[in-house]
Amino acid sequence: MLKKINEAAEYLVRQIGAKAKTAIVLGSGLNNLAEDIQIEKAINYTDIPHFPLTTVEGHAGRLIYGFLNAIPVIAMQGRFHYYEGYDMQQVTFPIRVFKAIGVNTVILSNAAGGINPVYKVGDIVMITDHINFFHDNPLRGKNDERLGERFPDMSEVYTHTLLQKAESIAQAQGISYHKGVYVGTSGPTFETPSEYRMYRVLGGDCVGMSTVPEAIVAHHGNMQCIAFSVVTDLGVAGQVEKVSHKEVLKAANAAGKKLQVIVKELVKVI
Ligand code: HPA
Repeated sequence: MLKKINEAAEYLVRQIGAKAKTAIVLGSGLNNLAEDIQIEKAINYTDIPHFPLTTVEGHAGRLIYGFLNAIPVIAMQGRFHYYEGYDMQQVTFPIRVFKAIGVNTVILSNAAGGINPVYKVGDIVMITDHINFFHDNPLRGKNDERLGERFPDMSEVYTHTLLQKAESIAQAQGISYHKGVYVGTSGPTFETPSEYRMYRVLGGDCVGMSTVPEAIVAHHGNMQCIAFSVVTDLGVAGQVEKVSHKEVLKAANAAGKKLQVIVKELVKVI
């Protein structure tokens, strides 16, 4: 794996250099986060050695390098989901490559179902912790000590100092937010009412089909990590309604503006 990571990293360094210390993963419908990036270079995933291809609607599948508030950043427009059939190593491959080109902070975003009864569609959740319900783990298999340790401590996957900075920004900008626990599932099915209830009982505040693998790998690679959910539908007892991918994208696009403001300010103070 290290050879593949290094080949992809060498390609990227040739294309964009190694100035970016922050990488942003743009989740479903959150592409408008990229609007503020002054793009220097856009690279299709197809052109990057060993990168898988995206298939899901709403994901462009390209890597952007540019400046956000004058800060050099890399942004993934489109991520690799486990439910698409990729294995955990493929899903998290870009995070490994970012580390190899000098990135030290990963900002993740996603669309999620709200299971905390106070959540509303369009709310922003700053993820404080996760529950891995993928029944798989990107670190399963032989561990390469050059990438990280065998048994990583998981007490602070989402960097507290980054969360505090994001909170200060949101408060200063008058943007309301929640702090919550994200349950990551393999998908592609949304939850049955009983599953939503179970995830709530187990301590979750929202549920989605991404983020957990990438956060684990960012943490394994000793990178800072922060993750945001946009609540696109509700899995709250009595409020569970039919949900479609189209609705998720629509709600995410609408709420993405608030996230855009937070992330734009956050990159300045990382
Ligand atoms: N469940 C799982 N994943 C999701 C949801 C949901 O309700 N909404 C957006 N992604």
